[in-house]
Amino acid sequence: MIKRPIIIDTDPGVDDTIAIMLANAHPELDIKAITPVLGNVSYSFTSENALGLVEYLGIDCKIGIGADQPLFIKGMDSDGVHGKGGLGGYMLKNSGREFDGYAWDIIRDEAIKAGGELELITLGPLTNIAITFMRYPEIKPLIKRIICMGGSAYEGNITPKAEFNVWVDPDAFNYVFHSGVPIVMCGLDSTEQAYLTIDELKSMVGKDTKIKELFDHIFNFFINKRTNSTDDDKLQTIYDAITVAWALDESIGTTKKYYVTVETKGPNAGWTIVDHKGKYKKEPNVEVLETADRAKFKAMLEEMLEYYKN
Ligand code: RIB
Ligand code: CA
Repeated sequence: MIKRPIIIDTDPGVDDTIAIMLANAHPELDIKAITPVLGNVSYSFTSENALGLVEYLGIDCKIGIGADQPLFIKGMDSDGVHGKGGLGGYMLKNSGREFDGYAWDIIRDEAIKAGGELELITLGPLTNIAITFMRYPEIKPLIKRIICMGGSAYEGNITPKAEFNVWVDPDAFNYVFHSGVPIVMCGLDSTEQAYLTIDELKSMVGKDTKIKELFDHIFNFFINKRTNSTDDDKLQTIYDAITVAWALDESIGTTKKYYVTVETKGPNAGWTIVDHKGKYKKEPNVEVLETADRAKFKAMLEEMLEYYKN
């Protein structure tokens, strides 16, 4: 089996957690490190959740100290969207193990070791990645590609134009999108095509697996949220998990390259402007995921539960 060295940069986060469970269920993904970043909840929670997740899943990888604030603007979080502590109220224990150094230093070291094969799967704001490229521009050619959950080719979810990860740190996204490193943007418009219904969520709860407690807690969190949603939004998108699913099997979606830039100031800060018609006359810099197959994603989650079966 050809092992793909990866680093997962994340702001766990209920959907980040399912994404990391999915990545860990595929031995071809050689998880070298998990690097937490501020985002869904404050960095104090995302970093503790990262430590706890690595131990809960028994992942043998480094854990980096990430950014607790965006590059230039004041840090904001998702204001409870991910529940108390960021995992729907589930408090993961951890043994208090030490972090293995700063995220940017770990990414640099692993990029050199992987000799150009390292892929970054990013599930939150791109602050850590931007800092890495600012401090160590020489390693950019060693990053095979970034597969990023973030942005949107059309509507936002935190403002009419901005998707949450980009909204938290628009400067980091703009910097990374213009870094020259190959990047795949798995945005809202594509990932939302791979939604799960309440009945489909319910069908995955209660399985006899090693991850039952945390998985069921998070899926019941989704089920409660969708059942009681006031805006009649009964469909659950597990954004970060769909991003990992595409990283594992690119046939679940289709992509196209466009020039994408990011609004970093004003009321539309965080808007990923996808130049579909080439109006800016600039070379395409981002591979944009445009479709995602619901049935294939659902099947990959069901296979994941089989992997963790007791
Ligand atoms: O907009 C969805 C993204 O924001 C996901 O990564 C979710 O975890 C939140 O970080
Ligand atoms: Ca996330």
